[in-house]
Amino acid sequence: MPTIIDGKKVAAEIKEEIARKVKAIKDSEQRAPHLAIIISGDDGASHTYVGGKINACKAVGFDYTLMHVASSISETKLLQHIDNLNQDPDIDGFIVQLPLPDHVSVEKATDRILPEKDVDGFTNQNFGSIVTEHPLLLPATPFGVMELMKRYKIETKGKHCVVVGASRIAGAPLSLMMMQQGLATVTICHMYTEELEKHTKEADILVVAVGKPGLVTKQMVKEGAVVIDIGTTRVEDSTKKSGFRLAGDVNYDEVAPMCSYITPVPGGVGPMTIASLLMNTLKAYEMRTNQA
Ligand code: GUN
Repeated sequence: MPTIIDGKKVAAEIKEEIARKVKAIKDSEQRAPHLAIIISGDDGASHTYVGGKINACKAVGFDYTLMHVASSISETKLLQHIDNLNQDPDIDGFIVQLPLPDHVSVEKATDRILPEKDVDGFTNQNFGSIVTEHPLLLPATPFGVMELMKRYKIETKGKHCVVVGASRIAGAPLSLMMMQQGLATVTICHMYTEELEKHTKEADILVVAVGKPGLVTKQMVKEGAVVIDIGTTRVEDSTKKSGFRLAGDVNYDEVAPMCSYITPVPGGVGPMTIASLLMNTLKAYEMRTNQA
């Protein structure tokens, strides 16, 4: 049977480590790291994710600011808020929660954030730093995946890693991290790749980040592979009080028995995204206060 990678447990360990560091900072009479979050509109899933981020700040002792703006906000006004946070000396890092209203350009908003405050790791400078000797603030979700593999002592060097999904915030940066820090041989596919299973079946480490529940079946996985599922799609489920559940991209029940390691959904990669955000915020704080 596989080892089930417990992202919740690892994220809790990371939070404890950060809380200890924050306590030491406060004990030495310095101000705590401060994260700000801009959220637009009333999308339920976004508010749930952001609630988790705020709770995590509280748990580790960070200061936090939540800015809720209407979905009717103009692009110009949103960019002004970003400029203000860029200039605010009390803010160490901030994120603009996605998705944004359709009339606001995600690229413009992301590119406006100062790289040293970009704790999501979305800006081009932070993205590019993945392939340098001095990575800056790494994209949160792939950073979380790399940290999980490190803590579970999963060997990546020389292994064949197949990543399905090439998004800017998950698949693309993870592929680079696997190549550069993981020293793996990387194949990047997406959901349009012809004969996808031919590639996925070759993977020692298979990472899926597409957002298509059940995409990966047992025919697509090599016996003994490590399977990392980044997909989190809300699907209707009348047996749940909320009326939905989170579904990964991997058909867990049939794939898990063949794996050496596998991440469940929920409770695998998801909690690590928040842990990475906290790690990045602490790093941004340390860089600003010259403690890094
Ligand atoms: N929306 C879904 N995931 C994320 C994330 O990691 N960061 C931001 N800013 N928005 C998101």
